[in-house]
This record gives sequence, C-alpha cells and structure tokens, in this order.
Amino acid sequence: MKTKVLKISDVESDCSAILEAARLIRDGEVVAFPTETVYGLGANALDASAVHKIFEAKGRPSDNPLIVHISKRRDVDRLVRELPPAASTLMERFWPGPLTMIFRKSHLIPDAVTAGLDTVAIRMPRHPVALKFIECSGVPIAAPSANRSGHTSPTMAQHVLYDLDGRIPLILDGGRCEVGLESTVLDMTAEVPTILRPGGITYEMLKEILGEVRVDAGTLKPIEGRPVKSPGMKYTHYAPHAQVLVVRGELDKMVARINAMAEEYAKGGMKVGILATQETKDYYKEGKVLVLGSRTQLAVMASNLFWALRQFDDMGVDIVLAEWIETRNEGLAIMNRMLRAAAFRVIDA
Ligand code: TXA
Ligand code: MG
Repeated sequence: MKTKVLKISDVESDCSAILEAARLIRDGEVVAFPTETVYGLGANALDASAVHKIFEAKGRPSDNPLIVHISKRRDVDRLVRELPPAASTLMERFWPGPLTMIFRKSHLIPDAVTAGLDTVAIRMPRHPVALKFIECSGVPIAAPSANRSGHTSPTMAQHVLYDLDGRIPLILDGGRCEVGLESTVLDMTAEVPTILRPGGITYEMLKEILGEVRVDAGTLKPIEGRPVKSPGMKYTHYAPHAQVLVVRGELDKMVARINAMAEEYAKGGMKVGILATQETKDYYKEGKVLVLGSRTQLAVMASNLFWALRQFDDMGVDIVLAEWIETRNEGLAIMNRMLRAAAFRVIDA
C-alpha cells in the first residue's frame, strides 16, 4: 500500500484533503491525523472491522482499549450510559483539549474499541484539523497514537511516516503537535475521579475544579502484580532505540553524575546523548546534548520530550542520560513518559 501525505496549512482552503480523509473513514479505512497532543491513527469507532485495521497497522495488543474522539459536546450522549455531573463541568472547562474521560459505555461502542471493557474513553481534541476531520467523517473516531506499538508517540507527520509507511493509506500533515504528550486520562467511573495517565491537563488543574482527585499508583512506578486500570500503562512504552537512564538529585549533583557517567560510557566506545535543560546545558562536557526547555516552563519541556527521544535515535545514540524533572504540574506527565522510556531505571546522583 502506498502511503499518501497531504499537508494542511489552512482547514478551510485545504478542505479537499480533509474530505478525502473523511471518505476513507466512511469506507472503513484508517487515516493518521494531527491532534494538539500527538498524531492519532483513526477509524470509524462504530465499525469493528475498521477498528481492527488500527490494531493491525500498529501491531497493537488487542487488550489495549482505544480513545473515541468527537467534535461536538453532544456527540458524547449516545456513546455513554451515564454522565456524572462533574463530567459536564470538566467538559465545559477543558473541551476541546487534552483531557480524556472514561465513562460506562453504551451498546453503540463495539468491544473491539474497548478491548471488552464496560467503559469507554472519550475526548474532544482541539486541533482544527482533527475537529474538521471528525466532523466531516460524520462518525466518532477511535484513535490511538499513530506509532508502531511500543515506540514513541509521533508529534510530527514525518514520525508517523517513519513508523507506518506502507501500512496505512493516508496521513494528514497538520504540522508539529503543540502539547507533545498524550492527553490526560481521567477515570470518571471511580469513586473519586482518578488520573490513569497524566498529561497536559494537570492534577493541579483538575483538583481546582473537582476538589478531590486521585493519581493512579502506577504513574511513577512499575505496575507489578496488580490489576491495571489503564491497560496501556503496563506496556513498555515510548521506547527509543537507545537505552535511557534517569539521574535524580539536586541540580549540581545531577550534572556532576551525568558528566562522570557520560565520560565512562564514551570511553567504552558508546555514543552518549544527554537530555538537559536550559539551566544545565552549558555544564555538560561530553556527548550530544539536547535541551527540553527551561525548568520554569514545564509545558514547553513536555512538548519537546518525544521529539528529543526521536532525535537521539536519528543521531544513532546508544545511551541517553536524562535529568529528573520535578513532578508538579506538567512535570508529572514528563516523568511518567520518561520513566517508561527508561524502563524505570533511575540512578540517584
Ligand atoms: O492524546 C491522546 O490521548 C492521543 C491522541 C491521538 O488523542 N491518543 C492516545 O491513545 O494516546 P493511546 O491509545 O495511545 O492511549 C490510550 C490510553 C491507553 O493507556 C489505554 O489503555 C487507555 O487510554 N484507555 C483507553 N480506554 C480505556 C478504558 N476504557 N479504561 C481505561 N483506560 C483506557
Ligand atoms: Mg500510544
């Protein structure tokens, strides 16, 4: 299969590309499209055989449920059995945007979407191309991130092409994703709303509105021997080809330890990458240094993480030494992804 890439600079003037994508969806095909978080690989959420094509193209385990994307607030009503009152408040405040909520599903949602669960994850993205594409398709769109399973989520159309070239018919190229990490997944069926995956809508933002929010225990540590609420969190994820090690400690100690390790690895003939911050970048002596951003701008750092991991792969780096980032605000999502990329290998400086 030849994979076509169509660039969209303006939703109105490039509407023929979006109409072509919508036609593929109605024909039961898959299409990769931009959202404000990461690129998604979409199919008609109400058509089980279309949804199977997503799992096939990604090589995704079938026990990992998908998020259903909608373009209007009222689309949610027929997809769920009940809406807790707090959900409406959150929709008003954060939709469209990077917040996914989990509800009890209605009979319309096929088991292929939810991996047999009785619940469904729903979100309304805010990228104009995503909104137009969903609207023109006329159906809710089931979509995971548009990467090969286990690989880092794509934040640019060329990342999608790298992972899925020849496996899908079309990629809508809407430029680089603004948030850069996947949406926050919030379980609204729990007694107290619980964050299963941290993202751009932070714990602090949700707490301000809900009063009480929980964060799933597996957010910053491996999930061992207990039932997993968000099946996606149990897989090795976001893995670049290089091995990633996270170094934790006070800033100066962290830098000293990373410098010492980088020297060691370089002596051993390894190509070293360092995932640094604006505040520390000038202190590194060895290796390829990439800067996530300033520690005072966590959202910017979050938006660069997946891009940086893919850059290290392009550079042919063997080992990445990454600085620990404090886990407040967007820092929680950064460390959730970084620790998974590192398979939870953390060294105290
Ligand atoms: O930002 C995003 O959320 C992107 C864009 C494309 O919208 N999508 C995305 O999808 O990241 P995916 O499939 O890579 O991640 C979905 C996550 C997985 O961890 C999955 O296990 C969880 O959401 N999930 C989906 N449905 C669920 C459900 N009913 N209960 C618990 N977790 C669920
Ligand atoms: Mg994913």
